[in-house]
Amino acid sequence: MVLRRILVVSRHTEVQQLAGRIARQVLVADDPREAVDIAATVVPDLILLDDLAQPGEIRTILDSSYNNYSHRPGIILAGNSSIQPPWLAQFEPDANIEYLPNTNDYEQLQKILSRIQSRARVESPGDINDFFADDLAASVSMTGKSKAVLHTLKMIKLVASSTCNPVLIMGQTGTGKELVAKAVHVIRHPDAQFVAVNCAALTANLLESELFGHVRGAFTGADKDKTGLLELAGEGTIFLDEISEMPLDLQAKLLRILQEKTFRKVGGINDLVCKATIITSSNRDLRQECRANRFRRDLYYRLSICPITIAPLSSSERRDDIRLLAEYFLKTSTVCPAKAGKITSLTEMSIEALEKHTWPGNVRELRNVIERAILLETTDKIGLSSILIEPDETVLSCVVRDASCDEIRNMHNPKTSAGDFSLDKAERELIARALQESGWQKTRAAALLGITRATLYAKVKQHNIQKGTYLPKTEQDDQPCPLEQEAVTAA
Ligand SMILES: Nc1ncnc2c1ncn2[C@@H]1O[C@H](COP(=O)(O)OP(=O)(O)O)[C@@H](O)[C@H]1O
Ligand SMILES: [Mg+2]
Repeated sequence: MVLRRILVVSRHTEVQQLAGRIARQVLVADDPREAVDIAATVVPDLILLDDLAQPGEIRTILDSSYNNYSHRPGIILAGNSSIQPPWLAQFEPDANIEYLPNTNDYEQLQKILSRIQSRARVESPGDINDFFADDLAASVSMTGKSKAVLHTLKMIKLVASSTCNPVLIMGQTGTGKELVAKAVHVIRHPDAQFVAVNCAALTANLLESELFGHVRGAFTGADKDKTGLLELAGEGTIFLDEISEMPLDLQAKLLRILQEKTFRKVGGINDLVCKATIITSSNRDLRQECRANRFRRDLYYRLSICPITIAPLSSSERRDDIRLLAEYFLKTSTVCPAKAGKITSLTEMSIEALEKHTWPGNVRELRNVIERAILLETTDKIGLSSILIEPDETVLSCVVRDASCDEIRNMHNPKTSAGDFSLDKAERELIARALQESGWQKTRAAALLGITRATLYAKVKQHNIQKGTYLPKTEQDDQPCPLEQEAVTAA
């Protein structure tokens, strides 16, 4: 199970590393006070504390989350003893706190995470189901009801209910390959582990010891035995993301596992049995990779028995998904808790602009555009001026229909028109806005932007942003737009 965002309140590197294994984004707070501050700005899925945390500090975090969050994160206290601190019992069950006795116990951690998530889910609102085609899609939050999504769901069910192992998922970057992998897992091994590893993110040696584990003394620095992810997956699923990036010699070892269903730890002599379902994904054309001798042909044939393919967001079959996804991200985003529930919809023009874009980054790019729009928007509807998309020249050709004054104002003004695609400028504006919104509190602003404080400092310097830095929309808001003026004159 991989979470989106974890807030770690600990200076211990092993606790921070643990967070890195289970979340895509890790925010670190030095103390509980800073944690409250960060969590008030970007709501994490989970808060991870170490055993230095005091009951009073946890209470403070909980109290602030009762007041602020639309969705309350679970809390894990990572300790170093099999006995949990007795004071934990004083917290009410809906505080959703769990104790992890050992920071190296990844398996236990996954079980704790499942419990925390299932409790959180019970509390979530009901109408969210409008976004999903069926229960399976809802269980992994796969939004979309287009023909293409229905076809993918059909394939997932077909493959998951067969004994097909390995499973290959193909699709451009950001199309949701990991969600599909989870959906296969949910059907096949609902109660077992889902372990993911990104083959592109690790060096060959690291990847090998991550996957297979190692025995003590296998190489310099291997001072104790390590359990590999294949072993951790147990009878569940191991997801090998971006398999095309796996080094060739490791591909050979993977092929051996697929054929013989056994593997050895690095430096080990015992054969371990692999019972997990192996799901792989690729955004590259693996046949072409074979032709270029970057991917083993025999492994490709082994993987591609019954591939599940996901259509890119730009395909005409998925056009209907764009509106649904945009609305879903608007509804569920936690990027700006202060605006939670206040921005209720998108204007037709914004949707039209979204539908015309070619989405090279697919759903991931769309989610980022919506989150950026939530930050930028100052009204209760996301208008075209808050939709900043990387250039593909389609937005400008948007038909002026149902345009609000605000939108026309922005189309008339070259400084903020949706056709102004300078990324550099957008970044400067976004940072200035985050600083303004956080009252120039850099920790909060960094959290809001999803970057570290150090990066924020560097960017503030790079863009020469100072208090009072020009923010186009806010300034123009004071000037009447051409239509308003005309209306006044006519009256
Ligand atoms: N159909 C979908 N509904 C909701 N979110 C989606 C959908 N497809 C992708 N996403 C989101 O987009 C992001 C990228 O998805 P991911 O599975 O990591 O893509 P990939 O592995 O194909 O690059 C994730 O945050 C994921 O939750
Ligand atoms: Mg991925």
